[in-house]
Amino acid sequence: MSVEGKVGIGFRRDFATNFLNSDVLKPGFVEFAPENWIGMGGYWRKKLEAVVEKYPILCHSLSMSIGSPDDLDMNYLKDIKQFLDDVNCQMYSFHLSFAKCDNAHLYELLPIPFTEDAANHVAEKIKRVQDFLNRPVGIENSSYYATAIPEMEEVEFINKVIEKADCKMLLDVNNVYVNAFNHKYDAKKFINDLPLEKVLYIHMAGHLQVNEDTIIDTHGEPIIDPVFDLFEWTIAKMKPVPVLLERDFNIPKLAELQGEVSQLQGIVNKVWQTVEK
Ligand SMILES: [Fe+2]
Repeated sequence: MSVEGKVGIGFRRDFATNFLNSDVLKPGFVEFAPENWIGMGGYWRKKLEAVVEKYPILCHSLSMSIGSPDDLDMNYLKDIKQFLDDVNCQMYSFHLSFAKCDNAHLYELLPIPFTEDAANHVAEKIKRVQDFLNRPVGIENSSYYATAIPEMEEVEFINKVIEKADCKMLLDVNNVYVNAFNHKYDAKKFINDLPLEKVLYIHMAGHLQVNEDTIIDTHGEPIIDPVFDLFEWTIAKMKPVPVLLERDFNIPKLAELQGEVSQLQGIVNKVWQTVEK
């Protein structure tokens, strides 16, 4: 089943049973975080298999930590490859960030310094990941709250990495909005300067404004109208790709989640005219 022009949902154990036993929430596909499922058997493996049987699957890794100075963890990659094969994953992505260093797990997605050295280092690792997994990967623009000794703008850094690695991009529109607000740049100019023809799929999410200067990327609130507007403006510049609604905290009733999925699907249908007749 094609996922282009479809709106999907990130799978959460919090709503697994309700989701599988009703058709209140009707996504076009489901995204799994492999790390939350690898090695799991019994009850939860059965739930996972039920989802795989019913929906196309995309996967998004949380622990790749591609920006770490350390070498790739080949045991981790073997597990990921097996999982992607098991669930017949159609598209795979991870963050352009780092989360561990020298075996210390930092439990946060931290920005990679926007430098030439870092771009070369990360691109070389992404190439090896793609070769090993034998499929293209999308790297996600992350939200961040401070930069470390930048030599270039974030958008230039992203372009360099994608070009050198010859990989795809996962465009998180909410992350662009959050970063543009916090770091005071123009979100539309940033998106215009991205390689939009390389976008594999899109993330959309809610955030929390904690004061007049700062937004936190929480994935715990509904999407706000300016992010819907930025999404509509962005997808008009692109060919149809899948769009994922991320909701990781304060998970509402399924009907409310379906409301956001429908709102996104309405915009997608209007702009990409993919509505099924
Ligand atoms: Fe995201």
